[in-house]
Amino acid sequence: MLGAGGLALFIVLLCVNAFAMGMAPPSNMEMIDPEKVMETPPFDKPGLKQVGDKEYDAYMTAFAFGFSPTKMEVPAGSTINFHVTSPDVVHGFQIPETNINFMVLPGHISSATHTFDKPGEYLILCNEYCGAGHQVMATTIIVK
Ligand code: CUA
Repeated sequence: MLGAGGLALFIVLLCVNAFAMGMAPPSNMEMIDPEKVMETPPFDKPGLKQVGDKEYDAYMTAFAFGFSPTKMEVPAGSTINFHVTSPDVVHGFQIPETNINFMVLPGHISSATHTFDKPGEYLILCNEYCGAGHQVMATTIIVK
């Protein structure tokens, strides 16, 4: 049986764990003034940057209500390191059928990596309610 003290401790541990597991921005994350996101390099020119043989950095912005860039194309087998930030509110960044699913917080850069082995069109969606245009907030990555 958990007494009230034990239950409180359990809840505290849950919260500590949630933060440690990435609900809070990683400490090495850079902060950008959200109002200046769209004019701060490299987010002023979002897009793919090739950093190796079949390896790319994707600098992206998530905003009400879309993603930039709107279309990206890479060869099959490419690894993409996503770096995403928002100039306005909290958005989601999910690519179904991959392990990519994270929150995008205003002014914070969220990062994740995935290797796209299978050719196809991959949808990127916002899965965090962000306002009236939330349901149309999506873009695609084409893997050839
Ligand atoms: Cu952005 Cu929902």
